[in-house]
Amino acid sequence: KIEALLAEVESFAPKTLAEVEEFRIRLLGKKGTVTALFEEFKAAPSDQKKSLGQAMNRLKTAAIDKVNELKAKLEELAFASVDASSLALDMTRPAGADKVGTRHPISLVRNQILDIFQRIGFVPAEGPEIEDDWHVFTALNFPPEHPARDMQDTFFIEKDPDILLRTHTSSIQVRVMQTQKPPIRVICPGRVFRNEAISYRAHCIFHQAEGLYIDDNVSFADLKQTILYFAKEMFGEKSEIRMRPSYFPFTEPSTEVDVSCNLCGGKGCPVCKYTGWLEIMGAGMVDPNVLEACGIDSRKYTGFAFGMGVERIAMLKYGVKDLRLYFENDLRFLRQFTPVF
Ligand code: PHE
Repeated sequence: KIEALLAEVESFAPKTLAEVEEFRIRLLGKKGTVTALFEEFKAAPSDQKKSLGQAMNRLKTAAIDKVNELKAKLEELAFASVDASSLALDMTRPAGADKVGTRHPISLVRNQILDIFQRIGFVPAEGPEIEDDWHVFTALNFPPEHPARDMQDTFFIEKDPDILLRTHTSSIQVRVMQTQKPPIRVICPGRVFRNEAISYRAHCIFHQAEGLYIDDNVSFADLKQTILYFAKEMFGEKSEIRMRPSYFPFTEPSTEVDVSCNLCGGKGCPVCKYTGWLEIMGAGMVDPNVLEACGIDSRKYTGFAFGMGVERIAMLKYGVKDLRLYFENDLRFLRQFTPVF
């Protein structure tokens, strides 16, 4: 019986995969002939068991090998025999244009801000989003009871020592002042975090870009011209700026900068609330206390700093009315911006 089955296995030459499967079931299946032989084997005389067992194992292995080999061969054949012309492939057709994505408006404006300042010698610098109290507040001359240090405004990760999410990118400038010697000229982009209710005009995560220039004899006039240059590059050659007195702990004097409304040309429209002006940034001369805290001699050096919200600049540039659109990833919004090639 074993010999006969071995001969059958050897001579088996099917044409289709279905035949192979049928063969496998007939021999090796639960009720297959080879399987049945193993049942019979239990009753064989013990002196024959050794040689019988060996022969049966040879048969079983041969059958399994045969099935696997035939399967592989027939599958390959089936694949190779597919006629390319039957798939109606026309290799001469022009390729369709791939859909490309668009750059996020925040990235576009951030890159543009960096580019504008890099052209006049500002070097990009970055820093950690998780900061300590010293780099975000103390070194920047915030008094201990300043409201920004309150839970209401700042996300704390740890108390005592205070570890928090930076509320402005000025902490990057502190790190630069600690590690570099004047002349310093940096532009610092980054994400910042404030514990604010989310609305059309505020979000708890947003982006800033802040600049710092420290050297001998840096003056308020330098600050003014630098920002005027920026305004013209960002909002157009006709742009004008005006400065209003303001207060920041880290600058003295401090100012808030407005740019003439590029949408109505200064005549007045809903975007500028009929004032003709749009607020774009805070700025000022670096307070000597800040220079000293960061290891820079305030009798020898002076500097200016400015900081702006990237979302706000993008809103003014593109007329975006709701800040939440930047975070929702709605393709109808995102597709309106420059494609990435
Ligand atoms: N750090 C300030 C803010 O987050 C902006 C600023 C930077 C103001 C530099 C003046 C000088 O609002």
